[in-house]
Amino acid sequence: MAFDLFDGGAPFDAEELANRYRHILAPEDRERLPAYAALCDALSESRAALELLGAVHERQQNPTLILAILHFLALTGHPVLGPIYKELHEGRPVVPAAFASSVVAVLETDPELVRRELWRSTQTNEPNRSATLSAVIGDVAHTLGHGQITLIDVGTSMGFNLFPDLVTVAATDRGDDAVLVTECFTPNFVRASVPLIGRRVGIDQNLLLPSNADDVAWLTACLWPEESRRLRRFTSLLEQMKNWPEPIRVAGNAVDLIDFEVTFDETPTYVINSWVLAYFSLEERTQWRDTMDYHFAEREDLVWISMEHPSINNSLRFPEAPKTAPRPGASEIVVTSSVRPSTHWGWTHPHGHWFSVDSGPKA
Ligand SMILES: C[S@@+](CC[C@H](N)C(=O)[O-])C[C@H]1O[C@@H](n2cnc3c(N)ncnc32)[C@H](O)[C@@H]1O
Repeated sequence: MAFDLFDGGAPFDAEELANRYRHILAPEDRERLPAYAALCDALSESRAALELLGAVHERQQNPTLILAILHFLALTGHPVLGPIYKELHEGRPVVPAAFASSVVAVLETDPELVRRELWRSTQTNEPNRSATLSAVIGDVAHTLGHGQITLIDVGTSMGFNLFPDLVTVAATDRGDDAVLVTECFTPNFVRASVPLIGRRVGIDQNLLLPSNADDVAWLTACLWPEESRRLRRFTSLLEQMKNWPEPIRVAGNAVDLIDFEVTFDETPTYVINSWVLAYFSLEERTQWRDTMDYHFAEREDLVWISMEHPSINNSLRFPEAPKTAPRPGASEIVVTSSVRPSTHWGWTHPHGHWFSVDSGPKA
């Protein structure tokens, strides 16, 4: 293994860092995102880009951070990056190699621009997950007879999942950016409407605010610029949120905060998490499960809807996932309540583009 010594820094395996750039996009994404694929390849050959990646804290040493920082610089007015990323945002055809070499030239001319943003960490908030969540919440509330609920979104990021009652969801895409789209793979499943939501609470240890321009730019930067439709949907949801009730936003570790929030009122309380619990340590997951079990025993109307990769089921004391996932890489939906132990409800695409129902009354 050949180690390089970057100026003033610790030694790094440059080849290994180059490989991270080369392999960060899955083969299907390389095909779908040709400009980003060319950029990843060009970054893998740039010593400045390798050095920047080598300077990142080990837990964040992922090329997506460097890609997001470059996108962030473009979104915040960089005179060269701004216009060339705008072409991608607008879905205009670009020559991938020309795009990549222009971006790398900016990075190599002034690596400090990127270096001073290395403190950031990549973060997501996928609006389309609400399309699936609204179906699950509606179904569970219908079954349990809950007409009004308190909703607590754990790992809420910017809070996109706090409005399952207000988003518009369709089964097919008609090109309207304000409409989320999810296809139900289970014939005869009848969606029930989401009950009234009184209190909305979003908890996150790295809370992002829609009113903070830096937070909005950073969350946008963490999306792929070539996915122009996803970007437009994201922007549309941000616009819609301005007319929706402001939720309660709580900053901190959900493991420490959940006790207070689930005992706050006597309305049936629904706790949701999507793509969050995998970030908890094993100890935190055990503590989380113990806390939830304590409250299930204490009150009759607590519901927990979890949308996560099934690889963490053991640590959450969920039953083993059935082998019914319609497509590989699916997230599992598990519902636990005061009146029913953890039960597999169904499957969903990680971004909520489809779902299937295996349990539940209308399956
Ligand atoms: C991958 S994002 C998912 C965001 C959102 N749930 C969604 O579906 O788009 C994970 C979020 O969980 C938050 N998070 C991770 N561990 C946490 C913890 N222990 N307490 C609170 N928030 C946490 C992160 O800050 C991040 O915003």
